[in-house]
Amino acid sequence: MSLPIIWWVALLLLAVQLVLWKSRAGTFLWTLVSCFSFWVFLRFGFTVPVPQSVISLYMGIALLAAAAYVTSSRDRLEGFTGPLVRLCTEPARRPLLYAVVLLLPALAAFAVYRQMNVKLEAPAFGRTIHPAPPDSITVHDKALNLTTLDNPYRTLEKSDPPAFASHVANGRRVYYENCFYCHGDALRGDGMYIHGLNPIPTNFADAGAIALLQESFIFWRISKGGPGLPEEGGPWDTAMPAWEKFLTEEEMWDVTLFLYEFSNQRPRAREGVHE
Ligand code: HEC
Repeated sequence: MSLPIIWWVALLLLAVQLVLWKSRAGTFLWTLVSCFSFWVFLRFGFTVPVPQSVISLYMGIALLAAAAYVTSSRDRLEGFTGPLVRLCTEPARRPLLYAVVLLLPALAAFAVYRQMNVKLEAPAFGRTIHPAPPDSITVHDKALNLTTLDNPYRTLEKSDPPAFASHVANGRRVYYENCFYCHGDALRGDGMYIHGLNPIPTNFADAGAIALLQESFIFWRISKGGPGLPEEGGPWDTAMPAWEKFLTEEEMWDVTLFLYEFSNQRPRAREGVHE
C-alpha cells in the first residue's frame, strides 16, 4: 500500500503522541515534543518543499498556541515550569544544567556558522561565444570595414602558391611565438596556461569552430582580443590579449591563414560571395 507522505508523517506523529500519553508525560515534555512534531510535519510532511518563511510563520503561531495552552491554568503552568525550576535548583541536576548552559550557545553558534558558511560561487554568466563583431574597427590607425574586409593574402593561394606558403610559414612562427601557450601545440585549445583560464580557448581543430567564421571575424578577435568583445561576449573573463599591441597587421593576417591551414579548414565565405 502506498500512502501519500503526509499520511506517513501524520501516523508517526500520532504514534509519538500515543507513547507520551501512555507514559503519562508531563506538560513540559509534551509541549516540547508537540512543537517539534509540528515542525517535523511542516518540514517533511509535504512532497513540495515548504518555504522557510512559511515554516517560521506557522511555527510562530504554534508557539503562541502552546504558550496560551500552558498558561491557561495554574496546574499546567506549574507542570511546565516544574522541570525547569528543578533543573536550576536541585544540586543533583547540576551536570545537566551545565550541559544545557553550554549547549544552547554552542548550538546557536553552530547555526550562525552554517548560515555564514555558504559556498562562494561565481555569478552565472551566459556568454555568447561568437558575438556579432562591430561594423568597423581601427587597427594601427587604419579604419577597417569588417563587413567587406577580406584577408589580403588569401588570393595568393591560387595566384602565387609559393608566396602564400611563405605567409603561412610566417603565421606559424607568429603562432608558436605567441599563441600556443594558451591555444595549444595542435590548436586544440589545450595550452599549458589553460588551467588558469575561464573561459578556455575553443578547439580550432573542431569542424564547428573557425570553419563557421569569416577571416575578418578571426582578424577582429586577434587584433582586439578580450578587451574588444562586446558586453554579451563577457569581456571581463577572457584572457585573450589584444594582439594589435604586439603584432603587425600582416602578422595577424598570416597567423589567421595558419590557423586554417594547420587545422585543415576553410574560412566561411561572405554571404553573396562565391569563390
Ligand atoms: C593568454 C592566453 C591566450 C593567448 C596567449 C592567446 N589567446 Fe586567443 N584566446 C584565448 C582565450 C581564453 C580565448 C577564448 C575566449 C575569447 O573568445 O576571448 C581566445 C580566443 C581566441 C580567438 C577567438 C576564437 C573564436 O572561436 O571566436 C582567436 C581567433 C584567437 N584566440 C587567436 C589567438 C591568436 C592568433 C593568438 C596568438 C597571436 C592567441 N589567440 C593568443 C586566450 C589566449
